Amino acid sequence: MTSWLEANRANWNDRVAVHLNSDFYGVERWLNSDDGPDAGEAALLGDVTNRRLVHLQCHFGMDTLRWARAGAIVTGVDFSDAAIAAAGRLAARAGLTSRSRFVLCNLDDAPAALAERFDVVYVSLGSLCWLARIADWADVVAALLGPDGTLLVHDVHPLAFSLDDDGATFTYPYFEESEPVVVESASSYTDGGALAHSVNYEWNHSLGEIVTALAERSLMVTHLAEHPWTRYQAFEGLVEGPSGIFRASEGAPQLPLSFTLTARWA
Ligand SMILES: C[S@@+](CC[C@H](N)C(=O)[O-])C[C@H]1O[C@@H](n2cnc3c(N)ncnc32)[C@H](O)[C@@H]1O
Repeated sequence: MTSWLEANRANWNDRVAVHLNSDFYGVERWLNSDDGPDAGEAALLGDVTNRRLVHLQCHFGMDTLRWARAGAIVTGVDFSDAAIAAAGRLAARAGLTSRSRFVLCNLDDAPAALAERFDVVYVSLGSLCWLARIADWADVVAALLGPDGTLLVHDVHPLAFSLDDDGATFTYPYFEESEPVVVESASSYTDGGALAHSVNYEWNHSLGEIVTALAERSLMVTHLAEHPWTRYQAFEGLVEGPSGIFRASEGAPQLPLSFTLTARWA
């Protein structure tokens, strides 16, 4: 393993306990609810009953298990052993073990580890920035997507990723660069405790690079929407609106904060 990968894994292992106990993720709230997938994401996929869905970089599985609640048969993959262990426990507590499994592996190893293709390949918020090369990610997607399958990505918009915490100053690269952005922070993006492994390595990938990486593998984009909102307090000035959506205040420039994309085989 390269050293940045080891550092990121240690950082993510630390985040699992913090996130499980955070108000941000609200695990107990979710367990006591019948909340399924995000409504916007669900509208993009339609009926998922008995469709086989793989969630890349699934963290402790809550976003994965939302799809199981909607009737999908889900597989989550992540390189954090703490996350995969927690995902298995969460599935048991949610009564969803028969519709879910969680596999420990680096993203690049997922096609070999899973050795099957899926009806849906799903990527949720905060995922692509941990990957050095979007071309490698697209290879993984292409290896996992079944002949009639759909890729659904809902992630941070790369423009937002290039802004500083003030949401106004361009500090980080917009385009993919070989050198990572090195972040040192003892806290995660949630409420909760400190991280012992505080250094992590991140990369940006422009929207054009993401779409082109898919197109070069014969994956045709069937939906691409840039949203002036996101689901967390990404920047200092964002205001929370209905149903947990954060956006710039009225009158301020509305920049793209997240995006959704679907793609299918051309
Ligand atoms: C913010 S989470 C995304 C999942 C989901 N949106 C959530 O919040 O639960 C990012 C995940 O990427 C995983 N990750 C980062 N780099 C990875 C890699 N190279 N291979 C597999 N998983 C990776 C981390 O362990 C973490 O669980």
